[in-house]
Amino acid sequence: MAKQTVLVTGGAGYIGSHTIVELLANNNYDVISADCFFNSSPKAYTQIEQITGKKIKSYNIDLCDEKAFDKIFAENKIDGVIHFAAFKAVGESVEHPLKYYHNNIASLVNLLSLCEKHKVQNVIFSSSCSVYGNVQKLPVDENTPMPKAESPYAYTKQIGESMLEDFCKQHTTFNAIALRYFNPVGSHISAKIGEWPLGKPNNLVPLITGTAIGKYPQLTVLGGDYPTRDGTCIRDYIHVTDIATAHVLALNYLLEHKNKSNYDVYNLGSGNGVSVLEAIAAFEKVSGKKLNYKIGDRRPGDVIAVYSDSSKVQNTLGWKCEHDIDSMMKTAWEWEVYRTQNNF
Ligand code: UD1
Repeated sequence: MAKQTVLVTGGAGYIGSHTIVELLANNNYDVISADCFFNSSPKAYTQIEQITGKKIKSYNIDLCDEKAFDKIFAENKIDGVIHFAAFKAVGESVEHPLKYYHNNIASLVNLLSLCEKHKVQNVIFSSSCSVYGNVQKLPVDENTPMPKAESPYAYTKQIGESMLEDFCKQHTTFNAIALRYFNPVGSHISAKIGEWPLGKPNNLVPLITGTAIGKYPQLTVLGGDYPTRDGTCIRDYIHVTDIATAHVLALNYLLEHKNKSNYDVYNLGSGNGVSVLEAIAAFEKVSGKKLNYKIGDRRPGDVIAVYSDSSKVQNTLGWKCEHDIDSMMKTAWEWEVYRTQNNF
């Protein structure tokens, strides 16, 4: 395959930055990033350069601004797009639904219109296991029906998938893959990139590492009376580099015309259900730190247990999950230490 140019939206973000590193490691790709640093830092680009020794072209634009977005397509010949840029806080989406509908939907409408205008045929879309809501049967596979979404965030992912599917029906030369991530955690093994949440995070792993380093006084385990093996919720944590490599495989698959259908969805999870207390125990083991935590009340909206059947992505794209929970916790901790030492 001749060298291809990939536009990564949200390329300075958590999963975007890790994916750029994997794209650059595969010497077939030139990468362009579009990010407005709403929830990320331009420093991510310098860090990517340190890891890969390669500089990438970048645009600081809001994807809801169609004119600004158009410039990227007009100035570059793009072969494929990986679309990460979106708001992603479930709780915030319940408080500010229009903010989520506007940003996550308008940016995707603009992206697809510009793909149509500039004849770009390949898109990989960030979806989420939240499209499944409260599941009845575990593990969850791609045939699990989608119920009414539990949050505006989850609904924007359901709508995004439907938009892609409808667009693919109308444009038979256009190809799209939606990847439904379970719980992305951890950081690059170099510890030079990771999640840079603005303000206090809501997600478990940055809260564990932030508590252990002394940013927060204590972690609260949100519910200890669930009907699970130790009373705490079960999730499918997946290392961010494993998510990143799946994007490279998905893009290769489309660019090499291996896809039989022009729209498809894949779960991306490790397949292992891990409880909150098991995640904490893994963290304590790999970091050698005792975590200060207490058991508190349940969080409204939390599902009891969810984990993935990822056989479709394994069998079709040849993807393999390389990192276990210990590796996720170890790299998350190394990143926390690195960013604290460097004032990130
Ligand atoms: C949710 C979304 C997921 C989305 C992610 C991004 C659903 C079903 N899932 O994941 O799609 O990608 O947010 O933000 O909507 N916990 C504690 N203490 C804390 C924080 C969390 O015990 O202080 C527990 C939670 O109860 C949960 C687990 O840790 O059991 C993971 O929580 P979190 O990291 O917030 O992710 P999800 O809510 O699973």
